[in-house]
Amino acid sequence: MIGRLNHVAIAVPDLDAAVIKYRDLLGGEVSKPQDLPEHGVRVVFVKLENSSIELLYPLGENSPIAGFLQKNPNGAIHHICFEVNDLAKAISRLVEEGARVIGDGTPKIGAHGLPIIFLHPRDFDGVLIELEEVK
Ligand code: CO
Repeated sequence: MIGRLNHVAIAVPDLDAAVIKYRDLLGGEVSKPQDLPEHGVRVVFVKLENSSIELLYPLGENSPIAGFLQKNPNGAIHHICFEVNDLAKAISRLVEEGARVIGDGTPKIGAHGLPIIFLHPRDFDGVLIELEEVK
């Protein structure tokens, strides 16, 4: 069911500092910051050959990243994202097996303009998993 690792998302306490590290220290190809108000994040993409890294920084009042950074003040991996080619099928199979989809179970549009869902970290060894539909 799961395909390629689409991205690893890292919550960072200082976005400019993180950009400098990924661009200048690690020599990565980083995007311009992008605001995604519907997700409460400002994001910078680091393009890799086989995947990508998303640097997440809180945006707005109710950012889910703000609380996460309170618990992890130095930053931490926030979630990993796998590609699936049929998200509806993936959801029904997961729910049938007792896994929990976060929210009301219907896909949202993610940072790449594609449908996504998140799975509860308690069902996946403490890891927040995002599934993104890529045809
Ligand atoms: Co993501």
